[in-house]
Amino acid sequence: MRPARNVRGSVSLPGDKSISHRYAMLAAIADGPSRLENYSTGADCASTLGCLRSLGVNWERSDGADNVIKLQGSGLALTAPRQVLDCGNSGSTIRMLSGIVAGQKFSSEMAGDESLSRRPMERVIAPLTAMGAQIKSQNGRPPLRITGAKLKGIRYQMPVASAQVKTCLLFAGLLADGETTIVEPLRTRDHGEVALRAFGAHLDRKENEVRIRGGQPLRGIEARVPGDLSSAAFFLCAAALFPGSQLTVTSLLLNPTRARLLDILVQMGLRISVTQLEELHGELVGTLQVEGGRLKGTTIAGADTAALIDEIPVLAAIAPYTEQGIEVRDAKELRVKESDRIAALATNLRAMGASLEEREDGLKIPGGQSLRGAELESFGDHRIAMAFSIAALRARGETLIRGSECAAISYPAFFSTLEGLVER
Ligand code: S3P
Repeated sequence: MRPARNVRGSVSLPGDKSISHRYAMLAAIADGPSRLENYSTGADCASTLGCLRSLGVNWERSDGADNVIKLQGSGLALTAPRQVLDCGNSGSTIRMLSGIVAGQKFSSEMAGDESLSRRPMERVIAPLTAMGAQIKSQNGRPPLRITGAKLKGIRYQMPVASAQVKTCLLFAGLLADGETTIVEPLRTRDHGEVALRAFGAHLDRKENEVRIRGGQPLRGIEARVPGDLSSAAFFLCAAALFPGSQLTVTSLLLNPTRARLLDILVQMGLRISVTQLEELHGELVGTLQVEGGRLKGTTIAGADTAALIDEIPVLAAIAPYTEQGIEVRDAKELRVKESDRIAALATNLRAMGASLEEREDGLKIPGGQSLRGAELESFGDHRIAMAFSIAALRARGETLIRGSECAAISYPAFFSTLEGLVER
């Protein structure tokens, strides 16, 4: 990655990863066909489709620019898989789909790659077991062997703020007898709730509590997945690095539970205007016009940390270039993502010559620093690879990111799209 002097152009993003997973899973257990346009191009969402095929769901991807998936729903009952469900690198696939297979009449095994095999699953095992499923794991980690059961609704207070866990339990609740109530410690992204409603389910929400009644039938939908805001974050942060940047992002997901990044970037000095707002199946979508300006610092803590969890890597990677620096607190969860993202950020920033403080639950990165190009590791983590390709744009000299092909987990066209937006 070579340094750049500006960011200029217009971009539209492949479909949001969180929404693509949820639409595919719900389409699979709906009645009738669904047609999903602009489905995520990432390998993670392909893992979800692969697992669904193993569960007897018929789908096809049509050729062409719009990445359309046509999927035939099976109703709430799926077919026993003949092989292990391969979740690849995808925590969303294993955690959310476990809620569906736990309510089936068969047993299944879910596994994934080396990174996924290190990730904590107790957060779904405990509540699904309380609902009546039997789950064996490797000390709380994948592979998971799930013996499905007729589940019963529970009231569950989640110990960690996790939209994957909330969605898993809403899906399990849909297959359970009676009512399931989930209480979140903090509000997390609500795509599970929004998608369930789009497929015809009824849910009640009161503050941090969401309730679903079991046995509701779903009906297939025709939908377009809004552009992925967490992928757009890399281009927005690239634009923030250069005062002369001008960037347009069309058809972008702007769901308020995901769009905290925009508030933070505006506070830091980026100018953002939103046009062409519309609602698609309950999700807010719009076009952003972005202009570079100052790049002030900020502190990210508490509910903001949860709301920005996937965008913190890129914010931290550009932190040394900000005026006052960035402090990230309450981010222990970052240590159990696709990599230990706190350690990965600290290692790569230091390799580029930055000084910073690494903490158990965050980072304190002073501003006003200039970085040099360096040889960096992706740690097999898509967001780390992409975050440092943005940091590299304002470094002195070239940067090499090993294993950068892992960007394909969420965004295969990332590097070519970025090259089309930077001026050198
Ligand atoms: C996601 C929730 C978050 C996020 C992940 C996608 C989702 O994970 O980091 O990339 O689609 O629900 P947690 O649920 O572990 O916070």
